[in-house]
Formats: sequence, structure tokens, C-alpha cells
Amino acid sequence: MDNTTDNPPEENLIKEILAWKKKRGALILAHVYQPGEIQDIADFTGDSLFLSQQAAKTQAKVIVFCGVQFMAETASILSPEKIVLLPEIKAGCPLADMAPIEKVKKKLKELPKVVIISYVNSYAATKSLSDYCCTSANAVQVAQAIPTEKDILFLPDMNLADFTARKTNRNIIPWQGYCQVHNILTKEDVIKVKKLHPKALLLVHPECRPEVCNLADYIGSTRGIIKFASNNPAKEYIIGTELGIFHPLKKNNPNKQFFPASKKMICKDMKLITLEKVLYSLQNLKPRIIVPENIRKKSLKALNRMIEIV
Ligand code: 13P
Ligand code: SF4
Repeated sequence: MDNTTDNPPEENLIKEILAWKKKRGALILAHVYQPGEIQDIADFTGDSLFLSQQAAKTQAKVIVFCGVQFMAETASILSPEKIVLLPEIKAGCPLADMAPIEKVKKKLKELPKVVIISYVNSYAATKSLSDYCCTSANAVQVAQAIPTEKDILFLPDMNLADFTARKTNRNIIPWQGYCQVHNILTKEDVIKVKKLHPKALLLVHPECRPEVCNLADYIGSTRGIIKFASNNPAKEYIIGTELGIFHPLKKNNPNKQFFPASKKMICKDMKLITLEKVLYSLQNLKPRIIVPENIRKKSLKALNRMIEIV
């Protein structure tokens, strides 16, 4: 890296990333929980659904996925001919870890007739056992597409399962998993912040606990939260999701105020990606995410069923 000019090192790093991006013909995708400087260099930022749609339709041969493993895996399942890079291979998802394939297989022996909906926040092997995938943006639509007489095993997030059950009246059996980042937010935390900002609207992600969701003015995916805050005339919002979302919220709405429902809502895995690691990925085409073909084909079916519904 050349630091001999007057440019600050980060500016040089960004220039190098953009030059390598061009050389590789790469597309950079970043989830809105990523550090702000990573979101700023991305071609697209958004929620899991939006990013997987961009990954599926791009003509680029290389995708640098700034997010966590299950997101890069989803991109690779949808576009196996592309080189999908995850700049930090250790960026996992503790929620996805809660539904490993062996445990799901065991559960299926007890419940052989269930329809399985896997939240996209699950690993490819788990998706391969599933009938449908869903994201936080379309879980309700996906569940509604399943005949009412069927029992649905919804995994791995019990809070999203509860939200979906309440919106659809379907018989949903929740897997007992949760996202540590969202489940940490309590009703008491929210009540405290609401007292400080009585005019603010409360916007939360459906991975939050049911008693937190009950207090919300809007419950939706990260992209849904950003759209709601950008289109609504209210000037103040309390946000119940990972703190990375404040970057696009503030950038898109300089005249509005945003307050965290809890300052503890930080996803450590999402923060593992750095500009240096993005540059290394582009230069070396590593670390690459490849899903074994037998698993890929089966999980693609579940993902395609979701895509057809939405
Ligand atoms: P979204 O799909 O709403 O972006 O959520 C992803 C996620 O990891 C939530 O914790
Ligand atoms: Fe996984 Fe939760 Fe992090 Fe989302 S915020 S990636 S669900 S650990």
C-alpha cells in the first residue's frame, strides 16, 4: 500500500479496493450491520433478502459479501458459477449455529409430517432439509402460502416464529433458537428509552422478544425499518436492532433523530470485516465460499420456493 501521498491511509485503502474491484469485475455487497466504512464502499447495502436478490441477478463474476457466513453461502447457492468471497471466514452467526443439521434430523424423526421453513439465517446444510426458506422480510408471506392444515416447524429463531404465527394463524412449532443481539433487548429497556423520548416511534426487528414487539409501532426487516423511518413524517425514532443500521438511517435522514433501544445490540461477527480484509479478498480471491453440490441443489429448492412466493 502506498502511504507516501498526503491522503489519509483509509482513503488510499479505499482507492486500492476500488481499483481491484474494477480489475476483478467484482460486486461488493454489504449488510446494514456492517461497519459504516464497509457500507460506504459497497455497490448495494440492505437486508438479507435484498442482498441475495442482488447476488442472484448480477452479471459480475466475483461477489465480495460483507456480511456473515450464511449470507455468503446463500449467494453461492443462488450463483454457483460465481466466485463468492467472505472477507472474514470466521464471521458466523450464533443463531444459525443453534440449528445444526444433526439436531434438525433428530427433530424430524419426532415430527415426520411437518413442513419446514428455515429462516435464511441458517447454514446451507440445514436449508437442504427444508421445504421453504424465508427472511425477516417475507416470513409471513411464506407461511401464508402453506395450507392451513399443515404443521410448520420454523427454525431457528423462536421470536420470528412467534411473530409469524401471530400474523398468519398457522400452527407453527418454533425451534428454540434466538439471536443474542436481539433477544438481549428487554421490555424494561424499551420502557426506559421511551420515557426519555416520548414522541419517538419504536421500530424493531422481529428477532426481538414478543413483549418488545408488542410495544412497537413497526416490526420489520432491517430494510423495512430504514424504509419506514425514511418515508414517515415523524422526526424521532427508537431503533430495536443491531447498531450498524444507524449508519444508513442517519445518512438517509439527516433531519431526523435516532436513538438505540439498547446500546448493547452489537453483532460481533458482523464487525469482523475490515477494509484491509476486503482488499486482501479482492487481491487473492480468498476466502471463497463454496457449498457442496448435493447440499446446494437441495437448499436451492427451498430458496427458490421462497423467491417464487415473493
Ligand atoms: P435482515 O434480513 O432483516 O437484514 O436481518 C438479518 C439479520 O441477521 C438479523 O439479525
Ligand atoms: Fe446472526 Fe443475530 Fe448477528 Fe443477525 S445479528 S447475524 S441473527 S447473530
